[in-house]
Amino acid sequence: MFDQPRMVLLAGASGGLARAIGAEIVRRYPDITLVTLSRGTVDRVPGHAGERRHLTVSLADEHSIRAVETFLSEFSSPPDWVINCCGLLHDEFHGPEKSLAQCEDDWLIQSMRINLLTHMHLAQALDRKLQRKQPLLWVSLSAKVGSIGDNELGGWYSYRISKASLNMLVKNLSIEWGRRLENSCVVAIHPGTTDTALSKPFQGNLAPGKLYSPALSAGRIVDVLQQLAPADSGNLFFWDGSRLPW
Ligand SMILES: NC(=O)c1ccc[n+]([C@@H]2O[C@H](COP(=O)([O-])OP(=O)(O)OC[C@H]3O[C@@H](n4cnc5c(N)ncnc54)[C@H](OP(=O)(O)O)[C@@H]3O)[C@@H](O)[C@H]2O)c1
Repeated sequence: MFDQPRMVLLAGASGGLARAIGAEIVRRYPDITLVTLSRGTVDRVPGHAGERRHLTVSLADEHSIRAVETFLSEFSSPPDWVINCCGLLHDEFHGPEKSLAQCEDDWLIQSMRINLLTHMHLAQALDRKLQRKQPLLWVSLSAKVGSIGDNELGGWYSYRISKASLNMLVKNLSIEWGRRLENSCVVAIHPGTTDTALSKPFQGNLAPGKLYSPALSAGRIVDVLQQLAPADSGNLFFWDGSRLPW
């Protein structure tokens, strides 16, 4: 159903996983139209023969809704795949909280801005562009630690709370777009612990073999996307294609 995309939109496109996913998509579909959104610039993938368009934008900013909407109006149809890779776990001054005592309002709000609102704003920008008969695959990169059902360890308050909120956004979108579109699939996916800037400070505690290269994770994620169907909509997937509890 979704295995022959013509146009892919990749958001948060300068990140470690996003760059690897872009490269993997181009490797599998060299003629694809690849549209990227990022706060920065993103290089063209070597070997890419298709159209390449880029918008420099911060999806955390509410004004991005209009900017992305205007940008998308330059295309005759909406993208077939939308993959949003935006996410935040730490910055220079903050990391995942081990206990309630470490929680700060500002960091939770910043986590919600990046882990939730960047996805919501992109959905809002896309919303009016969607066409009933055009298939749509929406993928939010989320995290297993955002699963409430899977949470047995606690901690990581701001990241868990904001990813759980993202998961609820994905569920809601799957219902709303599922009613409006003939063939849509709206999912969240856990990429597995991948060697990027996001996981860097936490890689020391991992069991051997549990840190994956961006290329390996990207290949696994695109494998999952190619196998998705409308009946899969409204779920959180593990990188091997199995379902995680919300
Ligand atoms: N790496 C892992 O082990 C792992 C595990 C589980 C889940 N994930 C999820 O996978 C996704 C991709 O992660 P990654 O490992 O590729 O991380 P990354 O290299 O840090 O990329 C994250 C992207 O999020 C966007 N972003 C970060 N801070 C932002 C801010 N302040 N304002 C707006 N956008 C911001 C950026 O996009 P632009 O600068 O391009 O706009 C950035 O490229 C995230 O959602 C993450 O939570 C990763």
